[in-house]
Amino acid sequence: MIRIQFVCLGNICRSPLAEGVFRHLVRQRGLENDYEIESAGTGAWHVGQAPDTRMQRTASSHGVDISRQRADQFQTRDLNRFDHIFAMDQANLDDILAMVEPHDDAAKEKVVLFRASDPKPDDFQVPDPYYGGERGFETVFGIVSRTCESILDELASEAKD
Ligand code: 4NP
Repeated sequence: MIRIQFVCLGNICRSPLAEGVFRHLVRQRGLENDYEIESAGTGAWHVGQAPDTRMQRTASSHGVDISRQRADQFQTRDLNRFDHIFAMDQANLDDILAMVEPHDDAAKEKVVLFRASDPKPDDFQVPDPYYGGERGFETVFGIVSRTCESILDELASEAKD
């Protein structure tokens, strides 16, 4: 079992999409029993809420249903619960790393930028679409979709080692 978590700020746009897309890809490959997949936000504003309706709509237009997911806040204990923690941008990464005990190198190594696995990473950030228009959500879908594929390929080869 490989336990992975995607983390953004609000857990209503970027990381819930990554959770939904990754789960969709895992199902397509028949690997449901190999992965535990969750997402969280570093902030608590939206805890308990469904993903942003614009994000739900964009995901749905690509065959990915994220409507039943509910926002959760990242907790220090998540550093033990997961094998890989993917931060959607540098601020999310910094906020998570600030919660790691200074000498806990194992925990530090688990936390990486999501787009470190993007074949076209440009600035390594998943842009926050929350305050922008519909097109931002489509851009985020493209980034998240190809990066999730790439992460799954990497983890699959790691699982074989
Ligand atoms: P997310 O987007 O981090 O991709 O879920 C945001 C959603 C809400 C807020 C910020 C970012 N907010 O400040 O309420």
